[in-house]
Amino acid sequence: MEEMRLQKYLALCGVASRRAAEEIILQGRVSVNGEKCTLLGTKVADGDVVSLDGEEVKIEEKKYYIMLNKPVGYMTTVSDDEGRPTVMDLITDISKRIYPVGRLDFNTEGLLLMTSDGDFTYKITHPKHKLDKTYEVLVSGNAEKNAIRKLEQGVFIDGRKTAPAKVDIENFGKNSALLTITIHEGRNRQVRKMCASVGFKVMGLKRISEGGLKLGNLPLGKWRHLTEAEVKRILMEAQK
Ligand code: URA
Repeated sequence: MEEMRLQKYLALCGVASRRAAEEIILQGRVSVNGEKCTLLGTKVADGDVVSLDGEEVKIEEKKYYIMLNKPVGYMTTVSDDEGRPTVMDLITDISKRIYPVGRLDFNTEGLLLMTSDGDFTYKITHPKHKLDKTYEVLVSGNAEKNAIRKLEQGVFIDGRKTAPAKVDIENFGKNSALLTITIHEGRNRQVRKMCASVGFKVMGLKRISEGGLKLGNLPLGKWRHLTEAEVKRILMEAQK
């Protein structure tokens, strides 16, 4: 925060207009770092604690919530030691630092949420919240009923059984099939490992929804802001 006059700070906190904030200061209701302050024009800067009627007041920072359609070939990290492209390269026009919410593999595409709000990230990614994530999976192999049933009931990956999944066959050819798989766990390379465990080779993997939010027709490599309703919706899903 740049150094600024106390009345401007109070106005930016949403306490009152600058003029009304001056009145409030003169009434002796404001303290800075625990000391009552009635001097108009007092400067405050980063680290100063400003209170009104004994309650700390802070400037509400604008928070960003976006959805990216991640292409294959991008790391879901802020930077990469090996110099590979990262999802940050696709986010232009936002000056504030935002971070991925969860992860998609280098070779996975689709819906990736990103935000500047750490609390949102915590709520969405915490395993106890069990948010549904749906993937479109192109597999080679014979999509027989038995394999699909096994995926639905749970398979052992890394020595631990997966929770029940929802699996639908969207389309199938002679030696390949397009499946949708919905899981609520977020284990490392989970969908690929689940498919491998029943003999399917994954040819393409794309996340199409998360916590009720859908990728829709967002073009590959593009991002958009979530609406307020979407942010509320996914947070509600996380609370269920
Ligand atoms: N499952 C995977 O195997 N990879 C992803 O990126 C996401 C889910």
